[in-house]
Parts: sequence; C-alpha cells; structure tokens
Amino acid sequence: MEITLSVLKADIGSIGGHIQPSRALADKVLEVVQHKGRKHLLDSRVSWTGDDIAILMTHQQGPGAAVIHEMAWEAFLAGTEVAKLQGLYGAGQDLLSDAFSGNVRGMGPGVAEMRFQERDAEPFVLFAADKTDPGAFNLPLYRAFADPMNTPGLLLSPSLTEGFHFVIMDVAHTGRDRVIELQAPEDLHRIAALLRDPERYVVESIWSRHSGDQAVAASTSRLHNIAGKYTGKDDPVMLVRVQKDFPATGEILAPFSTGHFVAGGMRGSHNMPLMPVPLNAGTSYFDGPPIVTGAAFCVHDGKLTDPVDVFAHPFWDRIRDQVADKAVDMRRQGFFGAAMLPMDELEYTGITTTLDGLDDRFHVRPDGPEPLRQAF
Ligand code: 13P
Ligand code: 13P
Ligand code: MG
Ligand code: MG
Ligand code: MG
Ligand code: MG
Repeated sequence: MEITLSVLKADIGSIGGHIQPSRALADKVLEVVQHKGRKHLLDSRVSWTGDDIAILMTHQQGPGAAVIHEMAWEAFLAGTEVAKLQGLYGAGQDLLSDAFSGNVRGMGPGVAEMRFQERDAEPFVLFAADKTDPGAFNLPLYRAFADPMNTPGLLLSPSLTEGFHFVIMDVAHTGRDRVIELQAPEDLHRIAALLRDPERYVVESIWSRHSGDQAVAASTSRLHNIAGKYTGKDDPVMLVRVQKDFPATGEILAPFSTGHFVAGGMRGSHNMPLMPVPLNAGTSYFDGPPIVTGAAFCVHDGKLTDPVDVFAHPFWDRIRDQVADKAVDMRRQGFFGAAMLPMDELEYTGITTTLDGLDDRFHVRPDGPEPLRQAF
C-alpha cells in the first residue's frame, strides 16, 4: 500500500520557560488530531522533545496536502489556547501567521514528509531535536549514508554499495527553494564541502540509488529567516526509513554517540553538544543542552506500532555523561569565541544596539605619539 508519513512540529508553549509542554496541551493536540483526522488519517501519534510538540501522521494524501496540514495547524491552534489558559511560556511561539493558507511550509511549524510504497516490513525512525536547528542532522546523515567507517552496510550490502542521492538545501536563500543534488560516493568531497556549514546547507532528503526509494525526509525551515527576526530556534524533525536497501537502525543511531556541537542552546545563540535523550524529555542546563529523541516504529497499511524509544537504552547513559561533560566544558568559556555563535547567527539581536551605541565612541588615532591621557 502507498502511504505518506507526515510529521509536523511546533513550539506552542511550555511550562517553566522553554522546558516542555504540559500534559493538557499535548492531550488537546492529540484530541484534535484524532477528531479532525477521522476521515483522512490512517493513524497518528503525538510526542514532544523539549518544548516542541510533534504530530506524526499516516495517510494517503501525499506530501504537502492542504487537508493534512490544516488539521495539524488547527491542532496547534487548539493547543495554543490551552497554553494561554495555563499561562504557559511562549504560547503559539512557532505559529507565525494567523491565517492558514493551504500549507504550513514557511509558516513556522517544522515539516518532514515522505510518500512511499510500504515494504513487507516497514521500519522507520522519527528523530526530533530541540534547542538547535536543521543543520544538526548534517553530521549523523553524512556518517550514516556516506561513511563506511560508520556504516558497514556500505561495504557488506550490495544495494547500499550503490550509494545514495543527497538533496541539499541552501537555507540562507530567501524566496523559492535553492537546492543541489549530489551522489555519494562520487560527490563525497562536494557533499562534505557543503555539509561542513550546517547553518547554510542542510540535507533535505536522501534517496537509495539502488531502488530509487526515499530514505530520509528532514525539515529545513529556519524560523529566523521566515520571520525576519528572532521567533525561536528552528528545532528540526526528520524521518528515516531503515534496513534492507537503507542503513540498519543501529547505523543511523551510531553517529549520535558523538555528541557533536550544534548551534542552539541558550537563547538559540550558542554552540552546544547534541545530547540523545528519551522520548518526551524536557530541557534543563543552559536552556539545553540541545537534545534529540528517536522513536522507532513499524508501519503496515498505515497502522503504526507503539514507538520504541531508541535513546532510552542504558548504552546512552554513558554518552549522556560524556555530552554533559562537553557541555560544561564549553560553558566554562562563557561568551568567548566558539562558545557563542557568530553575529549573524544570534537569535537575539539586542547586542547590535549596544555595539551601534559604541560606534561614536570609537576614534581613529592620529599619526605620531599618543598624547598623554588626562584624568577620565
Ligand atoms: P539479527 O540476527 O538480530 O536479526 O541481526 C541482524 C543484523 O544484521 C543486525 O545489524
Ligand atoms: P525554543 O526555540 O526551544 O523555544 O528555545 C528558545 C530559547 O531561546 C531558549 O533559550
Ligand atoms: Mg520555546
Ligand atoms: Mg524548542
Ligand atoms: Mg538558527
Ligand atoms: Mg523553537
């Protein structure tokens, strides 16, 4: 059966700052999805990662379907009302437009969708991250789909040996999408040259060159580009089909043991390591650290199994300890150098007012010896 998997996520309010949504908010979102989705949805799940609510849906309307997006939009609006009633922080934060216009792409919520013919066994993983941006997935995707040091399947499985087709978006481009298509392994160095800059170039999708099937769909929206000012980080979601012609689940999970530094954390303006955490975890230290959850499912005739929480396994406890050490290490240097993002990536732009105010007080020294300083 041909189905579409859609995941839409938004921050519509959270308890105690940017930590996590309330149970009542999540229940309302689920209730609206289930009620409004009776006609079109085959199945649905609602979960959260930090302060971001993700709605996972299976249906047959294809990617970008207005009826599906509108339903999610209405669920987010209803959840926002609960957030307001409870006095939650940042109620409706990611809903950047009041009027729904057919498709939520570019309106605020993050979206990842793919349409495919279900395999006999159809395992996939939903990844969701908070306090970071879509470039956070560049490293794990490169390692899982293009690096045989991570993915032995690229050597051991003939269909994987044929490689993968990468679609990469220039997220700094405004207006219509600017994308490039490259092939692993031939274009490996070109792919790496782009993905090294995760604030600019982001993997949008990956396809098997053996079967032509889509393996990955990732959200690429950057809220500060959409809104033109700070409205919250662009906390991303991603769907990854696994096994057979795609990497094994463990090959997709392995790169998350790096705890790589990503843009985000406090005020969306720092470099902090990405910590894999259990489903429905909140954030804490320094409004972070940036976190990622993974929910593994199988789907048949559009019906989802219960999720398996891939980062709940004891293995990840030790990784979390290591990532916490990295986070504290980086925070030791406060605002200096690599700890804070460069000026054009800061999500709070107040510092420019301070710097503008200092402009007049700069002076250029005249030639010759500096005159003796008078008292200040
Ligand atoms: P099982 O024998 O447990 O199915 O493992 C197969 C495999 O290749 C895991 O990577
Ligand atoms: P969120 O995008 O998760 O709301 O984070 C905002 C922030 O600035 C946290 O410090
Ligand atoms: Mg928030
Ligand atoms: Mg968030
Ligand atoms: Mg950003
Ligand atoms: Mg956000």
